[in-house]
Amino acid sequence: MKDPTLITHAGRDVDPGINIVNPPVYRASTVLFPSAKALHDHSQHYIYGRRGTPTTRALEHAICALEGGTRTVLLPSGLAAISCALLALLSAGDEVLITDSCYGPARHFADTVLKRVGIVARYYVPTIGAGIGKLMTEKTRAVYCEAPGSLTFEMQDIPAIVRAAHAKGARVIADNTWASPLFCKPLSLGADLVIESCTKYIAGHSDVMLGAVTANAETAKALYETHGSMGNCAAPDDVYLTLRGLRTLSVRMKQHQENGLAVARWLGQRPEVEQVLYPALPGTPGHEIWKRDFSGAAGTFSFMLKAYPEKAVHALVDGLKLFGIGYSFGGYESLALPSDPASIRTATKWRGGPLIRLHIGLEDPADLIADLEAGFALLAKEARA
Ligand SMILES: Cc1ncc(COP(=O)(O)O)c(C=O)c1O
Repeated sequence: MKDPTLITHAGRDVDPGINIVNPPVYRASTVLFPSAKALHDHSQHYIYGRRGTPTTRALEHAICALEGGTRTVLLPSGLAAISCALLALLSAGDEVLITDSCYGPARHFADTVLKRVGIVARYYVPTIGAGIGKLMTEKTRAVYCEAPGSLTFEMQDIPAIVRAAHAKGARVIADNTWASPLFCKPLSLGADLVIESCTKYIAGHSDVMLGAVTANAETAKALYETHGSMGNCAAPDDVYLTLRGLRTLSVRMKQHQENGLAVARWLGQRPEVEQVLYPALPGTPGHEIWKRDFSGAAGTFSFMLKAYPEKAVHALVDGLKLFGIGYSFGGYESLALPSDPASIRTATKWRGGPLIRLHIGLEDPADLIADLEAGFALLAKEARA
């Protein structure tokens, strides 16, 4: 089945006998058993609310089918998915190699909680590829990837990283939030665990926090046990909203891509712009890897301005009428996020002008371009003042 068909049909057979198109929201703590023996044997599909309901199963099955995995677990946020994936593979005394371009709070989790329990995180240059093998020691149990990188959009050669990691007995975790399982399938590139912040494109409407981790056959047991032991469960209403968002993922992603490319190409022509960081744009570093491993692009990218003072950059951002100022991406509406990646890097030095990440929503791109053009006028005015 092709992905748009899977997105429409997967996860709709978890409650046979009730022929409603969308699985309803099951809110549950206690699930009753018909007998003491049934309880003792755990011989029924649903045993306790924390372990999932038909609503949970529907989304788990749909995401698992899309990722091409063995098992998916759901969590209350993408960050909870990141911590669960890391803890599923790592123990005290182990070491994990993490891309320097990872989502900032993932780094914070590694530098605080993992450190406290005796797991060492070291950061690597995102574009390292097969060179990762040279950084590995006998303690390295996992390599953590995110492609493209948060804020700076470096592409990673995941198959080359997987080959080097597997050769030395380490597992590979990939945060696939940007592409969503529609535009990249890290498990098919050899990764062992794939993380999605469903908060972003999968839910798609800026009203839900939810995470998912999907495992291949080798890591499924460790993931399931860690998820269960940590008491992670996602709220049924949030799961329902995410499932509802998922059903339109293929049409939304196509439009985000089309709109994103239109705005990115326009920005690339602007004299104020030093560089557009969007792997879908030909000529951008990593474009060839993106073409090889991804089947499309999300509508989220950054652009670097020439050397403008901060107050001028703020005037640009504050002047935008159609772009909200805020974290996250993947919703139907456009966002702008001024950011400073230099402050969180350790393996690489981030140099360059002010950076603004844009999430291009489902508005007409001509309106977004006009809004940005007005913002650039304010940038120039403030820079002259
Ligand atoms: C790449 C990436 N991964 C994970 C997360 C965390 O997701 P959540 O906000 O759902 O915790 C984010 C959030 O911005 C993200 O950008």
